[in-house]
Amino acid sequence: MLKDEIVNAINEQINREMYSAFLYMSMSAYSSSIGLKGFANWFMVQYHEEMVHAMKFYEYIQRQGAQVRLKALKEPPVEFKSPMDMFTQTLSHEQFITRSINDLMELAIKHKDHASQIFLQWYVNEQVEEEENDNDIILQLKLINNDPHALLMLDRELAARMMTVPTDFSKGVEAAMSATKAP
Ligand code: FEO
Repeated sequence: MLKDEIVNAINEQINREMYSAFLYMSMSAYSSSIGLKGFANWFMVQYHEEMVHAMKFYEYIQRQGAQVRLKALKEPPVEFKSPMDMFTQTLSHEQFITRSINDLMELAIKHKDHASQIFLQWYVNEQVEEEENDNDIILQLKLINNDPHALLMLDRELAARMMTVPTDFSKGVEAAMSATKAP
């Protein structure tokens, strides 16, 4: 059984993960609008990853017999200055998410909630990967330094990012994740 303080904090985190999905979907739409279809693909895959993050929390609350409470999402930005602007905003958003996951972990430790600590460990690891991915692309964008030819080459590379994340959660998140695992 979860403490109310933990249920409330996880419900807030569901909102943050869904806002992340919303933000990256907006970046995908913007990338498409300026002809960067590879960037659009990368952000759309990221959108799906964020939905998995939200759905894992959703399922965890329900499995613990508590109630999911969804909240309104704020409107994401719709215009961006450049690919670098999108990725610096993405990194800073992910750093904010990392801090919120760490706060959740601190709360679970405070309440001696071992199940939640084990569950949250997946997110702690995931955030290391999220920030690493963003940092890698920012470094590449610095090297590109507004060279259109190099930017199009990166766009082609980002077009190859595969959708290995589940989109059908009807049988639960874990079942969807194992059904869509890369061979
Ligand atoms: Fe769900 Fe990108 O953190």
